[in-house]
Amino acid sequence: MTSSSLEETATRPGGHAAHNASLEGTTMTDTTPNAAQSGTFEIGGDLTVTRLGFGAMRVTGDGVWGDPADREGALTTLRRLPELGVNLIDTADSYGPAVSEELIREALHPYDTVVIATKGGLTRTGPNVWIPVGRPEYLKQQAHLSRRRLGVDRIDLWQLHRIDPNVPRDEQFGAIRELMDEGVIRHAGLSEVTVEEIEAARNVFPVATVQNLYNLANRKSEDVLDYCQQEHIGFIPWYPLAAGNLAREGSVLTEIAARLGATPSQVALAWVLRRSPVMLPIPGTGKVRHLEENVAAARLTLTDEDFRALDEVGRQEWEKQQN
Ligand SMILES: NC(=O)c1ccc[n+]([C@@H]2O[C@H](COP(=O)([O-])OP(=O)(O)OC[C@H]3O[C@@H](n4cnc5c(N)ncnc54)[C@H](OP(=O)(O)O)[C@@H]3O)[C@@H](O)[C@H]2O)c1
Repeated sequence: MTSSSLEETATRPGGHAAHNASLEGTTMTDTTPNAAQSGTFEIGGDLTVTRLGFGAMRVTGDGVWGDPADREGALTTLRRLPELGVNLIDTADSYGPAVSEELIREALHPYDTVVIATKGGLTRTGPNVWIPVGRPEYLKQQAHLSRRRLGVDRIDLWQLHRIDPNVPRDEQFGAIRELMDEGVIRHAGLSEVTVEEIEAARNVFPVATVQNLYNLANRKSEDVLDYCQQEHIGFIPWYPLAAGNLAREGSVLTEIAARLGATPSQVALAWVLRRSPVMLPIPGTGKVRHLEENVAAARLTLTDEDFRALDEVGRQEWEKQQN
């Protein structure tokens, strides 16, 4: 990305004013990618995070199983996060399992400027295998174990990874309420849910965030995003870098990216960020150079025209996939 395509400071349309972070003890220069340029959001109304976060699923082995092939590279990537102004890190007990939380602790404890959001409710029996278990006693045990692994008194944000269809959902929501009341977790969120499920959960505990699959070309959760924006619930899109067929040579996306001197995935991320002020994308990688490239998207400002053109092709792509 060339500096000419980047604005030095940004105020996201419809979003919170962005600010330049000067992080104590770090060496951030004007040209260092800076997540603070994505603006901020208050999770649960009182936990301020920089909107562009990081997903720590990719600092594990193949199939999100076991240790990463490049352990030092993973630790270096995690340690680089605060230096780039990233202060929202998403993980889960099931990433590894345990590996991602343990590496985060090794790299970043005691988390001076960083908020760790973790999840529970999916069990692992092998690479790429994810099985929901929503028994209340299990969810509570896992939150306690995450707290211990992360080395915190209270988990800032704990998310139910999936609602287990084999357990009454109110029992799962009740466990979350208890974890909040007992001070094990501060805020709670949900993952892969509908508006109806969010509303049911809100009868039991305050839903601070929702983490659903969402990107330029996957618009399945538009209604959930709109609801979150209206209710000021943080929306954490996973797989935010994907653009599917839109990244092919000669597409609107690649044309805009070339004009801005950016990569298609940076433009896809900039579009996601601009889509809503409650949007908290968590692109993930185990590589420092990819991290830096992703964070640099925070200062990429799309014109109204480019934003709308991308919106249009993204919706068309999504509709095509439905037929
Ligand atoms: N709630 C859920 O059910 C759920 C499901 C999946 C993920 N998540 C969360 O969401 C986060 C993000 O999701 P995701 O990892 O599926 O999708 P993503 O962040 O959109 O994409 C990650 C993939 O893109 C690659 N990548 C990242 N930056 C790149 C760059 N600049 N250039 C080229 N390739 C790049 C990564 O590989 P390299 O490591 O090689 O860079 C990885 O294969 C996860 O880390 C996790 O925290 C949640």
